[in-house]
Amino acid sequence: MKAVILAGGSGTRLFPLSRKKYPKQFLKIGDKKSLIQKTVERSLLTVNPEDLIIITNKDYQFHIRNQLSELFANLTIKPFNHSANQPFNLILEPIGRNTAPAIALAAKFALEKLKVHEDEVLFVSPSDHIISPIEKFAEYMKKAEKIAKEGYIVTFGIRPTKPETGYGYIESDSVSVGDSIRAYIVRQFHEKPDLETAKEYLAKGNYYWNSGMFAFTIRTIFEEFKKHAPEIYEKVENRTFDEVLENFESMPDISIDYAVMEKTDKAVVLPLDIIWSDVGSWDAFYEVMEKDENGNVKVGNVIDIDTKDSLILGNKRVVSTIGIENLMIVETDDVLLIAKKGEGQKVREVVRKLKENK
Ligand code: GDD
Ligand code: MG
Repeated sequence: MKAVILAGGSGTRLFPLSRKKYPKQFLKIGDKKSLIQKTVERSLLTVNPEDLIIITNKDYQFHIRNQLSELFANLTIKPFNHSANQPFNLILEPIGRNTAPAIALAAKFALEKLKVHEDEVLFVSPSDHIISPIEKFAEYMKKAEKIAKEGYIVTFGIRPTKPETGYGYIESDSVSVGDSIRAYIVRQFHEKPDLETAKEYLAKGNYYWNSGMFAFTIRTIFEEFKKHAPEIYEKVENRTFDEVLENFESMPDISIDYAVMEKTDKAVVLPLDIIWSDVGSWDAFYEVMEKDENGNVKVGNVIDIDTKDSLILGNKRVVSTIGIENLMIVETDDVLLIAKKGEGQKVREVVRKLKENK
């Protein structure tokens, strides 16, 4: 199995810490390790460093190289069969074309450069999520590999707790596949529904959030590209990896969720019983972090007096708060964000306004 880590996104929902030039996957918030470092570390419980394929935009290559050399120097877990000099594989996209072309390119890379068989399983994961405990997650990765070998596209379902519109929803059937492993046939995959539809899904009970990870063989994903996204398949089929990369600009800009997942009939869902967050907002970040006895999450040099249920992220300056509750404060060199808890999604509007004023 090869682990493909998608690290080319440029999300800004954790503004002012995440920026287009320094997106979420590289942030070390409330932790010594960044989200991508933790993604790599968790993958190394199951695969070797030389089985890692990290695919990102060329603009992020230095962030990746710096953070991965730091990680390999300070690994706290012992990677499976690790030798310090073994390199991981890094693919640099000349331009961002979203996740479907990135996955097609990574699959081509594995076939041609790593010389794997078409029946090799690719475990694809985002680089900007929080997952724990990682040992349990490693078990799911191994289960998924087995199911993927049978020709399925394995998705990983999270029990929804609110009608979130930023996720894909997986409608599951009660028919399961595999022997001891419970994965269910997917009736339909619905990428990012509107609020009304998301509420209906939540009420129905047989819907999961798509956690954004996938496992499939190269054969299966190429067949599905051929069937459902021929405009991608044609550009990969009769070209070498280098040619695909050279012509990457001509790829359509589309995510795997729209290009394949909404159309395929080969999907199964493996429900995950673990802690998962895509840290898609400061509210989500607050939720997953450990709180002190007053319900505060504090990072940096913070002096809080009579402060409750707040997120306070300091940077270089001392941040002091008195008599506040339910606020989110994020201080950086050039921006100070103060938001009411629950309103974190509106950070996007701030980013939009900033762009307009430029
Ligand atoms: N290499 C590369 N190139 N990676 C990319 C690109 C690209 O052009 N675009 C995005 N990525 C990476 C991001 O860095 C992230 O790690 C991952 O691919 C997913 O992309 P997002 O842009 O974060 O997707 P999303 O959050 O809107 O939606 C996906 O994830 C949700 C869960 O967090 C979908 O799969 C949803 O269905 C899912 O619920
Ligand atoms: Mg995301």
